[in-house]
Amino acid sequence: MDAHDLGRSVKWVTSFRTVGAARVLRSVRAAWWRRRVDAEGAYGPVAERARVPGPACGAEPEPGGGVVRFARSSLRVRVAAGGAVFCGWDGAGPGPSYALAGPVPEVDERAVLEPDTDGGWRVVSERLLVVVSRHGAVEVRTPGGVMLRREQPPRWWDPVDAEAGRGVSRWTQRSEVAPDARFFGLGGRSAGPRLREGAYRLWNSDPGGSFEPGDDPLYVTMPVQLVVADAGTHLVFHDNSWDGRVLLWEGEEGAGSGHDRPGRCELRMCGGPLRYWVIAGAPARVLRGWAALTGGAAVPPAWALGPHHARWGFGTEAEVRRVVAGYRERGLPLSAVHLDIDHYRGHRVFTVDRERFPDLPKLAADLRKDGVRLVSIVDPGVKAEPGWEVYEAGVAAGAFVRDGRGRPVRGEVWAGTSVFPDFTDPGVRRWWGGLYAERLAEGFSGFWHDMNEPAAFAAFGEHTLPLSARHALEGRGGDHREAHNVYALAMARAGYEALRELRPDERPFLFSRSGWAGMQRYGGSWSGDVTTGWPGLRASLSLVLGMGLCGVPFSGPDVGGFTGSPSPELYLRWFQLGAYLPLFRTHAAISAGRREPWEFGPEVLEHAGAALRERMRLLPYFVTLAHRARVTGAPYVRPAWWRTPEDRALRDCEDAFLLGDALLVAPVLEPGADRRAVRLPRGRWYDTATGRAHEGPGQILLDAPLARIPVLARAGAVVPVAGADGGVELDVWAPAAGRTGGGVLAVDTGAGTAEVVRFTTAWRDGAVAVEREGAAEVGFPVRVRGV
Ligand code: GLC
Repeated sequence: MDAHDLGRSVKWVTSFRTVGAARVLRSVRAAWWRRRVDAEGAYGPVAERARVPGPACGAEPEPGGGVVRFARSSLRVRVAAGGAVFCGWDGAGPGPSYALAGPVPEVDERAVLEPDTDGGWRVVSERLLVVVSRHGAVEVRTPGGVMLRREQPPRWWDPVDAEAGRGVSRWTQRSEVAPDARFFGLGGRSAGPRLREGAYRLWNSDPGGSFEPGDDPLYVTMPVQLVVADAGTHLVFHDNSWDGRVLLWEGEEGAGSGHDRPGRCELRMCGGPLRYWVIAGAPARVLRGWAALTGGAAVPPAWALGPHHARWGFGTEAEVRRVVAGYRERGLPLSAVHLDIDHYRGHRVFTVDRERFPDLPKLAADLRKDGVRLVSIVDPGVKAEPGWEVYEAGVAAGAFVRDGRGRPVRGEVWAGTSVFPDFTDPGVRRWWGGLYAERLAEGFSGFWHDMNEPAAFAAFGEHTLPLSARHALEGRGGDHREAHNVYALAMARAGYEALRELRPDERPFLFSRSGWAGMQRYGGSWSGDVTTGWPGLRASLSLVLGMGLCGVPFSGPDVGGFTGSPSPELYLRWFQLGAYLPLFRTHAAISAGRREPWEFGPEVLEHAGAALRERMRLLPYFVTLAHRARVTGAPYVRPAWWRTPEDRALRDCEDAFLLGDALLVAPVLEPGADRRAVRLPRGRWYDTATGRAHEGPGQILLDAPLARIPVLARAGAVVPVAGADGGVELDVWAPAAGRTGGGVLAVDTGAGTAEVVRFTTAWRDGAVAVEREGAAEVGFPVRVRGV
């Protein structure tokens, strides 16, 4: 156990208040058991031999690239249609893969492998040039020859005795990027979005208790790096679900002295193939390419883009009704209420405690009349209780994960000693998916997947299943080392596919605590148990931005924080940020204080009410962003550098974000602030509160009274909003003189599709003119602003 594990264990054991003393004791036993199972499975260190590729000894062209042979390895380079480049060492191909959306993408036949100088080889394609040296270094360059990334020859550590080591090789790959480059991505990290120098683990983890900035890893890790530099932006995805570490060093420029230090990245993987994809271009193009590879994001139903209220420990149906009535009586909009594990019978998934929730379908129907939906938590752990139907059905279906000797793997979770469905088995996904029928019959409209890292309480060691646990891995077979990071992704798939079948006319609403590359195909995510405090507020934004850059556009934090009681000011600032994030949901632990907007005094209530109403006003814009995210891969919430990655100051901006193309949101992340500095991207921006114009690039100071956070609109933008009568209206922000602008509106046509209406704006005869593409009339009321 390293110091980090020790810290986690201490945190876990001291979180009695949330988890209960009996559970802590059981988790000590569980940790011992887990350790013993792995010891029996001989998952300890084995003797190894180091290997590098050695000298190149030939190459064979293939469609879209070719294979370069080395004395002790080979490298396949293949350019896919659309420009993504695949590199696979030691014979690795692009499939099978949990990340890819469909069949392996077609190759770009125009890309060819040809000899390079010095005995190396090169693959020339439309968007990238890949140069392979005779010792196996790989350079990724723009077609113009500018270097984006240089990889040193990889190193492997192969087991000396292949059987004892189960044929698993560890490997390391070191890369260099430009001195000015900044790293982003790696899934949901607690600080950033810019990833600073440090080590980031690739192992989905429940931090235990709650987390704050600096805690690493968290629930969603992904080997996806987005690198932004003057020379260009590129994304690298190492398609490998094993445990690993990414070490990052930011570079430095020697101020003309010629002593530039490149940025560096080292990837150390405990097993699995060395294969990766590179996509390059402007950020929007890179994310589009990523979505083409891993799938468009599921579009949530429109109601899910409204405000949600959750709580662990509503306790009773009466309390749920009281909270909903509290919103209604105060004229506060609300779209959904989430029921946590306390509505289950003894925390058993797919059950209802009828004493406390006697008639859920009736509750759901009543809430629905007020426009409020019910969302259900779904945990993967199934209480190992002979005689209970879900458990028995799972046993009969052979659904639960087993260890190397065929015994069921048990873990401690909320319901007590539990077993875990193997979602990497298609048959198990179908069995599990069928259980959602019970939830639908109880009146639930949406699903909140939790604890699916998978988490299992343990007083020490990893808080998950033993590494030796066996998984189907779609029929290939393997153990938890490979299956762990894709467990939640496969669970999301099970839920999503079942819901599509059970309710073919509705878009599923599903979000998940854990996941992996490609999870956006099935739903979104949320930030997990963020500690209440100003640092937690900051972490909330980092997580949403980071996930968006990894292709998961829909996420959001527990507004107000998971633990304790926020001050009225912190609660309000969190609420104001949440109103501009895709998932806008208050949530808190059973032991935490209240989170209803009226619990913090009249001033907070007034301003939180304004934030809720502004969210509802922006709903057509959010619906548009959701549909566009599916098609374009662009997240709703984008870093400030999204359209101007060449602006180095913006690469470091961690306290503001673009919401779509039109808005720049600058939340207040510090106590006591009534003004804040905002760094503007290039162009003219209007303060939406005052209408005042500011010219970017550069930094300005804006008022940020308790009543609101600064939000700026891009000159020329068209923002679809809800009018007073509920119909769509257009907020049109005047273009700068001599400039034009535009925007889109996606109108839901149901079943995941939308009609896209495009608008342009320009000055004509001294007035702002708005036109709708392909139509004589705009067709929506227009409000011109900024003039
Ligand atoms: C986990 C979840 C949290 C939930 C709790 C009880 O800690 O992250 O959101 O309230 O479990 O189900």
